[in-house]
Amino acid sequence: MNDLGITKLANVSELFSRRNFVKMLVGSSALSIAALDKLNAAIYEDIDQLNQDYFQDESPDGVYWDAVRRHFMFHDKLIMMNNGTVGPMPKPVFNTLVKYFKIQVTNPYEVYSFFGPRRDEVRNKLARFVSASPDEVVITRNTTEGMNFVANGLDMEEGDEVLMSSMEHPGGINPWRLKAARYGITIKDIPIGLPPQSVEEITDAFRRGITPRTKVISISHTVYISGLIAPIRELSELAHERGIVLLTDSAHGLGMLNLNMRQLGMDFFASSPYKWLGSPCGCGLLYVKQDVQDRLWPTIASSGWDRSGSARKFETLGQRADPLIFALGEALDFQSRIGKERIERRVKTLAGYLKKELITIPGVRLHTSQDPYLSGGLTAFSVEGVEPNRMVNYLREKYNIVIRTIGSERAGTSGVRVSTHIFITLKDVDMVLEGVKYLADRRA
Ligand SMILES: Cc1ncc(COP(=O)(O)O)c(C=O)c1O
Repeated sequence: MNDLGITKLANVSELFSRRNFVKMLVGSSALSIAALDKLNAAIYEDIDQLNQDYFQDESPDGVYWDAVRRHFMFHDKLIMMNNGTVGPMPKPVFNTLVKYFKIQVTNPYEVYSFFGPRRDEVRNKLARFVSASPDEVVITRNTTEGMNFVANGLDMEEGDEVLMSSMEHPGGINPWRLKAARYGITIKDIPIGLPPQSVEEITDAFRRGITPRTKVISISHTVYISGLIAPIRELSELAHERGIVLLTDSAHGLGMLNLNMRQLGMDFFASSPYKWLGSPCGCGLLYVKQDVQDRLWPTIASSGWDRSGSARKFETLGQRADPLIFALGEALDFQSRIGKERIERRVKTLAGYLKKELITIPGVRLHTSQDPYLSGGLTAFSVEGVEPNRMVNYLREKYNIVIRTIGSERAGTSGVRVSTHIFITLKDVDMVLEGVKYLADRRA
């Protein structure tokens, strides 16, 4: 394992040899823009046809999902069960990325005025996708940036409190630590169970932590260590009853869950669409509810930072890598064709099956809730007497399955994390189970 906690994979060098990589680049650059458009049209025709033919098909495996899997980019040999780090990309997203980079390099100056306005088309799509207004959508670069924008931009005084859970990601904790160092605010950790047994267990813990000095609750919607989906709607109600604002880190939410900003109700919501939505790294979502926009200072200022009535004022970043943003638009189109509800249902069906079978294996401790309201496509667990690294390496070597280690021994959260996205099959999940059982049967 390297210092980023990433396990070295057995045959990475074979897959990404310099020769293969160059061949792939040459192959793609030979394609004209019209050919890239044609490729996308053919993929979408295929999905439309599948939607017609298999409209009622809810079985987790079968023709529909096999066909969808073929429209992703990853290497055939790999079974990608680590969306939680970086997810694979659907082919139309890659084609769009290449297309717009080609357009950009062909005539950079004229493209300069052509690209900017088209950013709003993506903003509109993103807003529709999460049931928000386009005026509430900031196209950031990732969750970390969104979390920093909010922590940095809210006025707080020495002694004011922010409540966080005990399982936040460094990208969600450190913006507040910086603010604490600079302005003397106080951070309070609220412990939550591994896994929590109910919604009330979580809301009660936060209720007990609130004091008259609490100004912000900052909590993961999708908890990277445990796979918990936090009850944001209930926490929004609790926060708003007390005049507290709620910031949620949903790095994994976009593309995994059928999100609706209005129903969730929080004030700020940050996400990284390269994990589950299939967009490239380098673009993210920050939702800023209309009625709190005047309370948030922009962190970056160029023309437009002082406009009112739109979250665009938090996005005056100067030149952007626009092809990334157009590829995000394509990722939204790809998932919309399949359907957000259908995606969440499949992700949860696969995870539900994995959890139900895992708990029958001696020594397994599930860190993720079995309640579908409190969980999604991330499943974390440990096996007594089996090193998490051993599980990761064994599944990789025996089945080409990519999962990862997660958590820390010190915090009692150490284990592995498995992602079950739409291109995973029950057969893949069965291989995980077979591998875990094999190791569990031979543990120290
Ligand atoms: C819960 C959570 N928050 C924040 C992040 C940081 O995401 P990014 O690097 O896209 O900003 C991650 C990354 O894995 C995460 O899992």
